[in-house]
Amino acid sequence: MRWTWSRLPTLAVVLLVCVVLRMSIRLSTDHQPASMLNQRWFESLRHLSANTTRTDRQTAKDIVNGRKFPKVLRTAGRRVFEVNCEAVLRGDLEEITKGRELMEKDGFVRGSNISETSYIKLTMDCEKFKDDQGYRSYILSAEEERFPVAYSILLYKEVEQAERLMRALYTSRNVFCLHVDMDARPEVHQAVQGIADCFPNVFVVSRKEYVVYAGFTRLQADINCMQDLMQRNNDWQYFINVPSQQFPIKTNKEIVQILQIYNGSNDIEGLTGNRRLEHRFKFRYIYKRVTKKQIKPNIYKTNYQLVDPPSNVTIVKGSAYGVFSRAFVEWMLHSKAARELLDWMRDVHSPDEYYWATLQYNQNLQAPGSHYSGRPDDKPWLAVHAAWGGVDPCKGKYVRGVCVFGLGDLAALVHKRHLFVNKFHLEYQPLALECLEEWLHNRTAEPAHQPLNLTYYRKLPFINTGRAS
Ligand SMILES: *[C@@H]1O[C@H](CO)[C@@H](O)[C@H](O)[C@H]1NC(C)=O
Ligand SMILES: *[C@@H]1O[C@H](CO)[C@@H](O)[C@H](O)[C@H]1NC(C)=O
Ligand SMILES: *[C@@H]1O[C@H](CO)[C@@H](O)[C@H](O)[C@H]1NC(C)=O
Ligand SMILES: *[C@@H]1O[C@H](CO)[C@@H](O)[C@H](O)[C@H]1NC(C)=O
Ligand SMILES: *[C@@H]1O[C@H](CO)[C@@H](O)[C@H](O)[C@H]1NC(C)=O
Ligand SMILES: *[C@@H]1O[C@H](CO)[C@@H](O)[C@H](O)[C@H]1NC(C)=O
Repeated sequence: MRWTWSRLPTLAVVLLVCVVLRMSIRLSTDHQPASMLNQRWFESLRHLSANTTRTDRQTAKDIVNGRKFPKVLRTAGRRVFEVNCEAVLRGDLEEITKGRELMEKDGFVRGSNISETSYIKLTMDCEKFKDDQGYRSYILSAEEERFPVAYSILLYKEVEQAERLMRALYTSRNVFCLHVDMDARPEVHQAVQGIADCFPNVFVVSRKEYVVYAGFTRLQADINCMQDLMQRNNDWQYFINVPSQQFPIKTNKEIVQILQIYNGSNDIEGLTGNRRLEHRFKFRYIYKRVTKKQIKPNIYKTNYQLVDPPSNVTIVKGSAYGVFSRAFVEWMLHSKAARELLDWMRDVHSPDEYYWATLQYNQNLQAPGSHYSGRPDDKPWLAVHAAWGGVDPCKGKYVRGVCVFGLGDLAALVHKRHLFVNKFHLEYQPLALECLEEWLHNRTAEPAHQPLNLTYYRKLPFINTGRAS
């Protein structure tokens, strides 16, 4: 009985809404065909979900008016005091050793260590939060103003690291879609929502997925963000997906310069032949929970062979991460061939590592932004640099075959041509990420900024030069 009574007010509201809806439908059906009604209904829904909150709009106005959140001239400065980051980045062994010893001491506390509950509290006062965290919108170049970039950031629990990543990429022009796994702890959802609510250009994805390791939902999560980004904002030029463990080694201005040189081309990794790990897409994979308590299933191989992929495509492997032109994203969301391939990918192991590459390197699909006709494996891929076990040097530690960078890696990392490096763990040698932050911050400051030599990028074999490939 108590169940019914406590829900009575809700029930009443629902009933009332139904009655009102029914009346309005009756009123309008007199004049309009049902299909149009449906469309209007859908549009009003979409409108509702696309609308930003009142505080968001206020913030947006304040930014435009330069009040509260004025644009500032950024200055280079030290942010890390335990070690001299400049020396670390020069590769000074003495300074690196000093930093490592410091971090290995018991009771080492990193400079900033913000828990989820702290984020929930801090973001209640957005203006103070943005001020304290250094979001003050620095003066953007005309190029940056004209060239917004959209990002999706995927995270499960590491809120602080995701926030630092977003901060490194943040400008008032860029757009951010934050995807938190459906089964993340409630405080994580709340903390991330709190952060998003402080910015007009940051939002939480409208449909969260239960991200399963090597599973289809990992790919779907990015697609959900792409869909939302496409709907919310019609001015971004490129989409880049990043996990929270990644960090940029280029400033926003440099990323914009490089993407302008790409001129509509995507930067997607492509691996062919044996490097594709054929068993992952020749056999059907299924999801199973081993115990009843388990929320996320695991993925298992079966002996059933998969049917051939649609559109007679050749499967190409690549990374889950890449740089995608707006035209490519739009095409992917609407093209029949791309949707059919996506559907086929449901039974594949790690479909996120096949979908983008297969779309990009099958010329018959004519994906926008594929301006490269050579062997995919020979194409430079500049979205992310990761150091692989047995191939690349690593001064940090290997986890599942990928280097988690330490202080000793920074000197080499900052000279890479890539946009991002992967990966950092905030709990492991936190000064590494902090020094990289300081370096990047300095590079966003005028006049400390040393211009990037763009010659290399202009000669890349996959950029769109307007010639047919
Ligand atoms: C959404 O915001 C626009 C103005 O930005 C307003 O015209 C519209 O009525 C709003 N819709 C809802 C459902 O709040
Ligand atoms: C950043 O700039 C400050 C001020 O010029 C300097 O002291 C510091 O060493 C710089 N940091 C790095 C990593 O270059
Ligand atoms: C960060 O704070 C948590 C408790 O909130 C603590 O357990 C952890 O050791 C701290 N980490 C560092 C590196 O300071
Ligand atoms: C499928 O592609 C292969 C080469 O990749 C080609 O030989 C074959 O004719 C194609 N089949 C169809 C039905 O297009
Ligand atoms: C830029 O790099 C190219 C080689 O990639 C070099 O030839 C050129 O001199 C460099 N330009 C400047 C201004 O350093
Ligand atoms: C960029 O792409 C456009 C359209 O494809 C083309 O006309 C133009 O020449 C390209 N720009 C450069 C610098 O190659």
